[in-house]
Amino acid sequence: MLFTSSTMRTVFSFVCFILGLGLLERVAAFDLSRKDNLAVYWGQDSAGNQQRLSHYCQDSTVDVFPIAFLYIFRGTGGEPVIDFANTCNQWDEGTFPGTDLANCTIMAADIKECQAAGKIITLSLGGATGEVGFSSDSQAESFADQVWNLFLGGESDTRPFGDAVLDGVDLDIESGTPAHYAAFVNRIRSNAGISHLNATSFALKAANSTTHANATSNHANKTKTTTPVKDVTNKNKYYYITAAPQCPYPDAYIGAALNDAPFDAVYVQFYNNYCGLDQPSEYNFGTWDQWAKTKSANPNVKVYIGAPGSSDSAGQGYVSVSKLASYVSDAQEKYSSFGGVMLWDASTAYTNNRFDLGIKTAMVTTAEKFFPQELSRNVTAATSSAHSDAADNGAEDCDKDDSAKVESKPRVNSRFFRL
Ligand SMILES: *[C@@H]1O[C@H](CO)[C@@H](O)[C@H](O)[C@H]1NC(C)=O
Ligand SMILES: *[C@@H]1O[C@H](CO)[C@@H](O)[C@H](O)[C@H]1NC(C)=O
Ligand SMILES: *[C@@H]1O[C@H](CO)[C@@H](O)[C@H](O)[C@H]1NC(C)=O
Ligand SMILES: *[C@@H]1O[C@H](CO)[C@@H](O)[C@H](O)[C@H]1NC(C)=O
Ligand SMILES: *[C@@H]1O[C@H](CO)[C@@H](O)[C@H](O)[C@H]1NC(C)=O
Ligand SMILES: *[C@@H]1O[C@H](CO)[C@@H](O)[C@H](O)[C@H]1NC(C)=O
Repeated sequence: MLFTSSTMRTVFSFVCFILGLGLLERVAAFDLSRKDNLAVYWGQDSAGNQQRLSHYCQDSTVDVFPIAFLYIFRGTGGEPVIDFANTCNQWDEGTFPGTDLANCTIMAADIKECQAAGKIITLSLGGATGEVGFSSDSQAESFADQVWNLFLGGESDTRPFGDAVLDGVDLDIESGTPAHYAAFVNRIRSNAGISHLNATSFALKAANSTTHANATSNHANKTKTTTPVKDVTNKNKYYYITAAPQCPYPDAYIGAALNDAPFDAVYVQFYNNYCGLDQPSEYNFGTWDQWAKTKSANPNVKVYIGAPGSSDSAGQGYVSVSKLASYVSDAQEKYSSFGGVMLWDASTAYTNNRFDLGIKTAMVTTAEKFFPQELSRNVTAATSSAHSDAADNGAEDCDKDDSAKVESKPRVNSRFFRL
């Protein structure tokens, strides 16, 4: 059968239309057990050209976005303070009455779009300039209830992301006192009905659909505080808890909690420290692997290699994609705790010639070599602002005209820029 070129164009437009709707995309849900996951921090605009979150969800490169930061635990009116630089902050988007808590409802659609593409979005607490910490377990627990109600499966009149429900929390604690974080984590897990479960065992249990509903309502009756804590959202949703310790072991701020409460993954910052990727003789992934297996409250915890997305995104520790890929290949082969790579941050990695795509492609290739029994996955890179798997299939770019136009704004250092 012959196609005229105009028929071809029509077919091609139709394919682009379908791809645009995302109907043909194979959406693989996030799988913590893999050894080729990529977590990329978003929210602090380190490169000065940060785009909305959904911009970074147009292809299969990134699996997890910890969005940064909730940086003050107890602000005006007893509510926390969040800031995502040029995308949403308390000054430009406004706050809920009597608080400094920004109304980031404008981000709801982006969060849901990324989740629909199989990615998880977690809220990162802390950062280099955070005003954080707890004076008692009960304070940590009531803060956990507050975070649960504002951002996760609970309910509140003031939901900063509107009807979007985040997938968990990340603790990037770099100031304050280290005490009571285990109580915070255990309370979030108990609110989520996952105290003694991980993502895999939770999924099995969720098949027994009513079990979780019972666990949640039983818990509500035991709650000491008056805050209503209930799961009004998705009974089949697992909430992930991660942390971003710095590589010197044990971490000064989150080290104790890592031993006392179950975390799903740790994104170890192998930069800005003597044990970073730029210091091969001091690099200590082996120490973290040993911690995972012998000291962690979750012996199946995944350890990620945290790296800078560009030479500008950290003071020290940036290495090229090929050098990072050799660390990854080594970890995939030697360390059963290895779960993937974390990058700080999305804006710098994208600006740096898609560093994220470079390392993801390398990581998937070596994972297939070492773990051929694992389901392989294809990395699709967006070549335009539209949803597009077309490039992967050797087809034309659906949206040629607006591809690769890099905005040339002056560089603005974020308040939290971690040098
Ligand atoms: C979940 O827990 C089970 C048993 O406790 C373990 O076999 C499995 O590896 C864990 N999975 C993950 C992803 O941690
Ligand atoms: C929050 O923002 C949304 C839209 O962005 C608006 O509809 C809503 O009224 C705002 N809520 C408050 C309390 O200002
Ligand atoms: C599902 O429920 C049945 C009956 O309560 C129980 O025997 C079984 O262990 C449950 N399975 C899981 C995976 O929780
Ligand atoms: C809750 O658990 C009880 C047994 O403890 C069971 O009989 C009941 O069917 C469950 N209810 C729901 C709503 O799952
Ligand atoms: C929880 O408490 C409420 C009201 O006090 C009661 O109606 C409900 O049956 C209790 N649920 C459970 C599971 O005990
Ligand atoms: C990846 O692509 C190859 C060929 O392009 C295909 O055979 C394979 O099924 C794909 N794998 C997944 C997980 O989509």
